[in-house]
Amino acid sequence: MVIAALLAGGAGRRLGASTPKQFLPLAGRAVLLHSLAAFAESGLADRCVLSVPAAHIETALKLVRSAAFSVPVDVIAGGESRSATLYGVLRALDEKGLLAGSILLTHDAVRPFVTKRVIRDNIAAAARTGACNTCVPATDTVFLSEDGRFMTAVPPRSTVFHAQTPQSFRGGELKALIERLPADEFERMTDGCSVYTRFGLPVEMVEGDRDNIKITYPEDMEKAEQILRRRRERENA
Ligand code: CTP
Repeated sequence: MVIAALLAGGAGRRLGASTPKQFLPLAGRAVLLHSLAAFAESGLADRCVLSVPAAHIETALKLVRSAAFSVPVDVIAGGESRSATLYGVLRALDEKGLLAGSILLTHDAVRPFVTKRVIRDNIAAAARTGACNTCVPATDTVFLSEDGRFMTAVPPRSTVFHAQTPQSFRGGELKALIERLPADEFERMTDGCSVYTRFGLPVEMVEGDRDNIKITYPEDMEKAEQILRRRRERENA
């Protein structure tokens, strides 16, 4: 079974709206519904899980009901951190007997432009390797600094990538690996791929997409509107 977990448990402090950014309208539809639709309407996922802050469960349920997707969508409460939200998804699926043997795609609900090609490549890579991360090559040179004042090293740009999502896994394996870690160590990680690299396990790279942006700051909403307009023009051309 292929399951898509939409992580929407964040507060959106950097964007600073009165409601978490995943609920803001993008061309009249909540950001998280755009992201959810990308999976639910892909024909590639058997079910979806949407994690939202506990105070927003009712709103999320209404949005999901109004969308009437053809695959089941469970709405659950997220956690204090992204990793707690992710672990909550794993526990909820395990309790329902759905996790073992599943391919689990985990996606930032504030990345509404994930494509069917990226979803398909994630499913294939997770099934093949156990874990995968969606990424794009770095365009800026990045460097390391130990103290934030002086440069310490410059990795060659060809070795540097930006992580996007989805990140996808064999679901049962991810939960078992997390449970081998001291709880505070997982809490410090922000994603499932870090768990695999921590154990020296391979994480395959899936080619992402420059439009697969994460809405973080207010100006990203404008960028998102532009991307959506461009896409719709292309579809209607
Ligand atoms: N996320 C989550 N649970 C949390 C924190 C984050 O599910 N406790 C999700 C967010 O909803 C988002 C994704 O993880 O879809 C990436 O989070 P990010 O945008 O970096 O963080 P936010 O907490 O949403 O925003 P900010 O850091 O600006 O407060």
